[in-house]
Amino acid sequence: MRSEILAILRQAGEKYVSGADLARRLNVSRTAVWKHICSLKDDGYEIDSKSRNGYRIVNAPDLLLPEEIVPLLSTQSFGKKIRYGQLMGSTNDVAKKMAIEGSPEGTLVICEEQGSGRGRLSRGWYSPAAKGIWASLILRPPFLPQGAPKCTLLAAVAIAEAIKEQTGVKVGIKWPNDILYEGKKLVGILTEMNAEMDRINYVVVGFGINVSTKKEEFPSELENIATSLEQITKSHICRQQLLAAILAKFEQNYVKVCEQGFGEVMEKWQRYSITLGQKIKVIGIDEVFYGEACALDDFGALLVKTPQGIRRVLAGDVSVRSSDK
Ligand code: BTN
Repeated sequence: MRSEILAILRQAGEKYVSGADLARRLNVSRTAVWKHICSLKDDGYEIDSKSRNGYRIVNAPDLLLPEEIVPLLSTQSFGKKIRYGQLMGSTNDVAKKMAIEGSPEGTLVICEEQGSGRGRLSRGWYSPAAKGIWASLILRPPFLPQGAPKCTLLAAVAIAEAIKEQTGVKVGIKWPNDILYEGKKLVGILTEMNAEMDRINYVVVGFGINVSTKKEEFPSELENIATSLEQITKSHICRQQLLAAILAKFEQNYVKVCEQGFGEVMEKWQRYSITLGQKIKVIGIDEVFYGEACALDDFGALLVKTPQGIRRVLAGDVSVRSSDK
C-alpha cells in the first residue's frame, strides 16, 4: 500500500493529491491513507500535507527502502521479494532463515546497518548505518554442490560490472571474493550454502560494499587497508541506483551460467582478476603453501602451480607475493 501511495504521489509531481482521491483509487479508508502517510514520514519521507489540497511528496530519504528500490529494478526475479530492516545482526543470517522457510530464489535481504556483520574465516564486517550496501541474496542453483563457488565468482563479476557502469571505477577481483581498488578492499562477498550430497538446497550470497565511509571513520585496523567508492571518486554515489544495477548484472550472469555454463562469466572473471598469473601464498584450512595462480577450473576452484605439481584450491585465503620469496 505504501508503494502505491508513493507511486501516485510521485506521478502527481508538484501537484497535491487529496486523501479522498487516494482512498478512492486504492479502495481503502481515508484513515488508512493517513496512517500510511504517517509511516512514510517516520521512514524519512518529506510529505507536505495541506488540509484543503491533500498530500505532495517533497523529498525521499537516501535509504535502501523497498519502495525506493523496486521502481528501479529491471530484473525478473532478483529483488522481487525484499526483506528490509534499519538494523539487522547479519543479513546472511536473516537470508538463511528465510531460505529454510522457503523464500524463493532472488529474495533480497537488505539493511542500513549490521550489528554483527560477518566476513569469511570468522572475521567481522564493519557495516555502519547508511554508509554502504549490506545485502544478501537467496539462490537455488541447479548445479551440484561442488559448483557453489561459482556463485561467489559470478557475484564478484556482477558487482565489478555494476560499479564500473555506475561510477566509472575499474576494480580488480582477488580470488575468491574480494574486490579491491589499488590494493584496498572495497567489497567483500560471503557465500554460504545448504546442500545434500547431490543437490543444493540454497546458497546465500552476502555482499558488503563500502560506499561512503570516510577514511577516518573506519576502525583503525581497517583505515589503511579498506576504501569506499566516495573516497575513490570524491563524489556522491547513489546506493539505490548501484544496488539496482548490481541486481540486474547479477541476474544476467546467473541466468547465463545456469543456461549456458560458466564459460562466458569465467572469461569476464579472468579479465577482472588480479590473482591469475601472480606468485601467491595460499593460506588453506590447515596448511600454507606457495605457487603461481595459473587458472580457474570449471567449478571455480583456483589452480596453483607448485614445485610438486598443480594444486586445486577450493577454499582459503590467498595473498599476492610482492617479491619471489
Ligand atoms: C569478506 O570479505 O570476508 C566477506 C564480507 C561479507 C560482508 C557481507 S555484508 C552483507 C552480508 N552479511 C554479512 O554478515 N556478511 C555479508
